[in-house]
This record gives sequence, C-alpha cells and structure tokens, in this order.
Amino acid sequence: KKIDPCTLVLFGASGNLSRVKLMPGLFRLDAAGRLPEHMAILSVGRSEVSRDDWLADIKGMLDAKFKNGYDQKVFERFIARNHYFANASDDPDAYKKMSATLGDAKIFPQNFAYFLSVRPTDFAPVVEQLSEVGLLNESQYWRRVLIEKPFGTNLPSAQDLQARLTKHLKESQIYRIDHYLGKSAVQGIMLTRFANAIFEPLWNKEHIDHVQITNNETLGVGERTTFYDATGALRDMMQSHLLQTLALTAMEKPADLKPESIRAEKVKLLQSIRPVDVSNINKQAFRAQYKAGRVCAADGHGENVQGYLEELKRDGVDSSITETYAAVKLFIDNPRWQGVPFYVRTAKRMHEGNTAISIRFKKSPMQLVEGQHQNWLTINIQPRECIKLEIESKIPGLDIATRTLSIDAPQRQKEDETIDSYETLMLNLMEGDPSQYLHISEVEAQWRLVDPIVKAWAADKTPLHQYTAGNRDPEESSVIFETKDQFWRYSIELGGDKH
Ligand code: BG6
Repeated sequence: KKIDPCTLVLFGASGNLSRVKLMPGLFRLDAAGRLPEHMAILSVGRSEVSRDDWLADIKGMLDAKFKNGYDQKVFERFIARNHYFANASDDPDAYKKMSATLGDAKIFPQNFAYFLSVRPTDFAPVVEQLSEVGLLNESQYWRRVLIEKPFGTNLPSAQDLQARLTKHLKESQIYRIDHYLGKSAVQGIMLTRFANAIFEPLWNKEHIDHVQITNNETLGVGERTTFYDATGALRDMMQSHLLQTLALTAMEKPADLKPESIRAEKVKLLQSIRPVDVSNINKQAFRAQYKAGRVCAADGHGENVQGYLEELKRDGVDSSITETYAAVKLFIDNPRWQGVPFYVRTAKRMHEGNTAISIRFKKSPMQLVEGQHQNWLTINIQPRECIKLEIESKIPGLDIATRTLSIDAPQRQKEDETIDSYETLMLNLMEGDPSQYLHISEVEAQWRLVDPIVKAWAADKTPLHQYTAGNRDPEESSVIFETKDQFWRYSIELGGDKH
C-alpha cells in the first residue's frame, strides 16, 4: 500500500518500548524499503537532549538490537529522518513550541501520526493538548493517534477515556493497539480457517469438543510490580490479547478483508460470549499466584526465582491477592458454538513459554479399534509458528491398532515476534489501515466480559491458589473443565500431552 509523506511523532521515545521495539522496528522498515522517501520521525521526550545526542542514542539502540551489524547506507538515511523535541512538563508553552517545530514543512511532512507510548493516565491529556494547539486539525492533511494498551482499566474507565478522546478525534483517527494483532501467526488464523476447504465444515459444535487458548510465559513480573499488582493476569493478557485471539478463532467469515468487515465479525463474536455467572464463579474461573521455584532460563539453564509476594516485598508491598495465573471457561451463545467450552488461560512463571490455540475434535463416531485418541489441531503462535494436526493411523505391521501421528507444518522458527508485530502495526498506522487495531466496541465487549470476574476476585470470593514457579498448571485448575477427560495441553515441542 502507498504511504503518504508523513511524520511519526513518537511520545515516550526514551522509554523501553521505543528503545527495544519501535526504533529498531522503524529501522527495519526503512531497510526493507517500506518507509516513504519523505518521512520524518520526531521523538518527544521529557528531558532536554540535543539532536546529536539523540542520534547517538538511537545508534546505541540499533547496536544493541542488531548485534550482527546493519547497512550503513540505510543507517544514514534513517538517522537523517530523526529529530528530537523536549516536551518539558513544567513549560506551559511546550505544545505551542511543538506545533511551531512541526510547522516546518521542509523537515516534517504535514501528515502526522502520533504514537502515544506514554502512561495510560497521559493518553487523554496529550490528546487534549495536541488539540488545543491545533495539531489535530485535519484539513488538507491527516492526523492519526495510536493509543497503547491498556485502554481503560474497566468498562467505565474505557468509556470515560473514549469520551475524552472523541471530543477531539473521530473514531477513524484513533488506532487502539493490541500488539497480538500485529503478530503474523495471529493474522494467519483467519486465513488458515478460510483458505482451507477442510477446516470450515468441521469448525463447529458438531465436531469440536473444546478449544484451548493459551499464553504461558516463563518470565515473572520483573520490574513491573506496581503496574502488575494493580492489573493481574486477567486484565493484562486476557482482556485484550487472548479474547482477540479467541475472536479470530471463532468468528464468522467476514464478507471481505475491509477493516470494518473484520471488526464487525469480531465484535459480533465478542458480544455473543456468555457473561461468566459470578454466582458459580469457582467452576468457571480459576486463579493462582506463583511461589518461589526454578524456571528454565532462555539459555536453557535452570534458574532459581523468587515468588510473586517476595518480589512485591522487595518493592515495599506486603500482601497481594493479584493473580499471576488465570484460567476461564467461556461459552459462545451462537448456533455455531452452542455448548462448546473455550478454555482461556494465561500465566507467568510457567515451565514453558508458549502461546497456542488447541482444538480438540470429538471422538470419532465409528471407532473400529479400542483406545483411539481424539484429533487435535494446534495453531501455535509462539515461540514456534506452526500448524499441527494429530491424526490416528495404523501401526505398521501385523497388528490392527492405531497410534497418533502428527502432521506438523512449520511456518516460522523462533524469531523476534514482538519486533515484527510493532513493525506491521506502525506500517498500518502510516498506511491508514486500522484493520489490525481495536474498535471501541471490541474494547467495550472485552471489558464487559472481564469486569465481573475481576470484581468477584477482588471481593476475594474465590480461593487464590498457589503454584511453584517453573511448574505446570496447578492441579486444582482442572475444576473448570466440563468433563473429566479434558486436560491442559502444552507446547508441541513437549509432545503436547497430558501432565
Ligand atoms: C503485554 C503484557 O501486553 O504482553 C505482558 O503486558 C506480557 O505482561 C506481554 O508479557 C506478552 O507479549 P508477547 O508478545 O511476549 O507474547
């Protein structure tokens, strides 16, 4: 797609996201020839930094990211695009000055995309100040605003934020990010479903026993204790990333690939999810917190790690009932999915890091031999991108017996997914393609589902279990399964079988 000459204004440019993902991502887009010739980047930060120092800083970010080096010519072109603006918080005229800076059309092409990588409490104030100095006026040129996650912390706060933003922006100017939608494997769900004649006829309650949407991480909470303790696994991962993944897995086929068509199907699906019955919450949602244990570090070696409460103590917090493990059973009230459980789970400090959609088919109606396994289809999102189908097949030789064989279609091996997703999303922002961004109705539907569980958990009505860091799902989590023969699946590298 063609990108108009434009300026990307990056708020929070000296923050971690920008250093690790956005700047290197923009560089890679430049290297791939995807940035228009007339495109500038204005980094906005709090501190007073000269342009030269900022450019040297960017070089440091790239050196850290691309250990094997990079093309010097691209580097020079990229550096020439970059500028810095100090947005001092104590300067009442800061935004006027920003407007004057951006007014220099020779340096800054006049279509502006603002990327707000700032604290969520600053989303609305930044937009209000941009508006006040006229930086959101669309006449000859477009203005777009990218809002990082989280969009609110519950339904009322999301609606509140929306009301503040729409005083200054049209819905079509707001790009709400969910970086999972930028992952190529997540984008692939829809194509896999609808490009293959063999899946769609089976993709329903007649043939599917249940679906598992999993995000497991070996990482702990790290330095983000304050944010995480106020958030928890349910709001951090499930509210957005996993419900989006579920929507793409379960939605009806969109009429076409237009952003509004895709979003309309997702919204319809999200609105068809039955709200969790809080009076019976212990059978539908399970939560737990990790204790000290041992996880497998990236280099494959074991590492002793602290429990969640010890990490909080280190930062001066004495107690917490925030969950680091959340598993929820959801049902979709529509003709396709009536009665099929969707188990959605996410956890930090698990034995493995893996994100996957696993679909278990019903028992074959005509079993000729005993002991056959049910078919599974797994769409693995990370770290390995692949589609794996497990089928029953005769064991070669004299006996009439079956075993499970896997057809494994690797799409991509381990790679830096996150860079990819931000690259795609920044490109979409500049192209003016919101299809991989969240519409406000999706955000609202997601909060509507998650809020009652958060409330019930906050009221401490459900037991908070514990699990040892580095272990698999706590045994007690199986309370949410509909039938005794259902069990959690693990990554395909491990064979993906029972614990
Ligand atoms: C973020 C959450 O949105 O997603 C983090 O705040 C989580 O807690 C991260 O670790 C997971 O993203 P990814 O791309 O590593 O799966």
